[in-house]
Amino acid sequence: MLLLAVSTQRTIGLVIALIVGGAAAVYVLFNVFSTGKDEIGSEIELAPNRKPYFDDEILETKKLDLSLAFGAGGLAIIAIALPLYWLGEPGRQEGYVDFTDRVAADRGGEIYEAQCVACHGAAGVGGAAAYTVLDESGRFVSNASWTAPALNNIMYRFSEDEVLHILNYGRPQSPMPAWGGPGGGPLTSQQIEEILAYLIRIQIPAEQVQDDVQRGLAQAVSADVEAQNPEPFEALAEISADPEATPEDIAAAQADVDAALDAYLADLAENDEVAYGELLFNNAVGAGSYNCARCHTAGSSWNADDVLAENPSLEGLIEPEMPGGGGFAPSLLGVADQFLTAEDQAAFVERGCEPNLQYGTNGVCEPSGQMPGFGPGATDYAKENGGGLLTPEQVAAIVAYERSLQ
Ligand code: HEC
Ligand code: HEC
Repeated sequence: MLLLAVSTQRTIGLVIALIVGGAAAVYVLFNVFSTGKDEIGSEIELAPNRKPYFDDEILETKKLDLSLAFGAGGLAIIAIALPLYWLGEPGRQEGYVDFTDRVAADRGGEIYEAQCVACHGAAGVGGAAAYTVLDESGRFVSNASWTAPALNNIMYRFSEDEVLHILNYGRPQSPMPAWGGPGGGPLTSQQIEEILAYLIRIQIPAEQVQDDVQRGLAQAVSADVEAQNPEPFEALAEISADPEATPEDIAAAQADVDAALDAYLADLAENDEVAYGELLFNNAVGAGSYNCARCHTAGSSWNADDVLAENPSLEGLIEPEMPGGGGFAPSLLGVADQFLTAEDQAAFVERGCEPNLQYGTNGVCEPSGQMPGFGPGATDYAKENGGGLLTPEQVAAIVAYERSLQ
């Protein structure tokens, strides 16, 4: 009755178990009762057609040793070689992950070469995009060139998710188009991931980030420094024009110029924080990737002021740049009402936006986190690589400048 109640598989299983169990019992019984009897087919004497096997002398020495050696060898393989093989397994897995990362970055590099290099430059050094300025009714006003920021430092300011968002959706009201399916772009999500892997590969070291920032500031003050202290600049011009000058001579003269520029900047940072902050706010190096103006000053990415200066007839059609007056990002005029202390504001600028982060008195970040982080360790990548786009002192200077904006 019980047998019928359970499932067919179990019934079959039980029947098989009974048959096997019964057979085993019969075999055991047969063997117990048959002790003392010769095995079927056993011979007292060797049949003439069989050759004698080794005698005990050999069986218990050479033969036995050989079998034991084989046994010990087999055990050794199981006891040592297998665990050793397993020990290497995580390494093999990591190697495979590295390998797939490499393949992804290689493919991302190919997509970058095909789709991004024209605007963002080779290996992400930054470049420019053709841009057409239109008036409110969509009529042509002027041609311009919109800087496309360097991407070889992108992981220091945006998290991976934020970069993926920009790639998917592009940057509204700028020449940066949407690339991913979610934004209506042509690339698959796998291709977008591959581009991300490539961008991670081409990041420059943290020290070079700092050097870039300093180089940009030096360029910006170069004319002022030369006016104040022309000697090192004249010496450099002279030696560069001298056909007999060695590369070492030129390098030495260049080092003098750099020292003059660095000294000027150090003095500015020390004695005029607001002026130093203004330089950083507008730093042009890396195709604008280190500055704030490109998002917070409308027109700064395509040099609206220069376009106006070249074509005075466009006055009234092109808005002049209004420092910190807002563009893609909110206006910073009166930002002191948002952040009651400069420290709070600096902490926000260092960290940047994370999805829906609340900041200041009533600020809330977009879910996509578009405000980059500028401080050391603003992103996981920056933390792992010990860097950030700006030092805390530089951020403090920018904040002082922003709070001076009216
Ligand atoms: C037609 C020119 C153009 C092409 C092609 C282009 N970009 Fe851009 N991209 C821009 C411009 C211009 C900006 C800056 C927009 C702004 O000022 O807010 C930008 C911004 C970005 C940013 C944000 C940088 C930042 O710090 O704000 C990323 C990331 C980016 N592009 C990646 C890519 C990748 C990857 C590709 C190729 C798949 C690509 N872009 C193709 C013009 C381009
Ligand atoms: C890639 C564009 C971009 C760049 C570059 C950028 N910001 Fe922003 N910033 C934003 C966006 C977008 C917001 C608004 C946050 C939001 O709505 O998600 C913002 C908000 C802010 C705010 C808060 C303003 C308010 O009243 O709510 C401050 C302060 C600020 N940024 C400072 C800076 C400083 C300083 C720099 C340069 C070191 C900088 N930003 C560079 C995009 C940018």
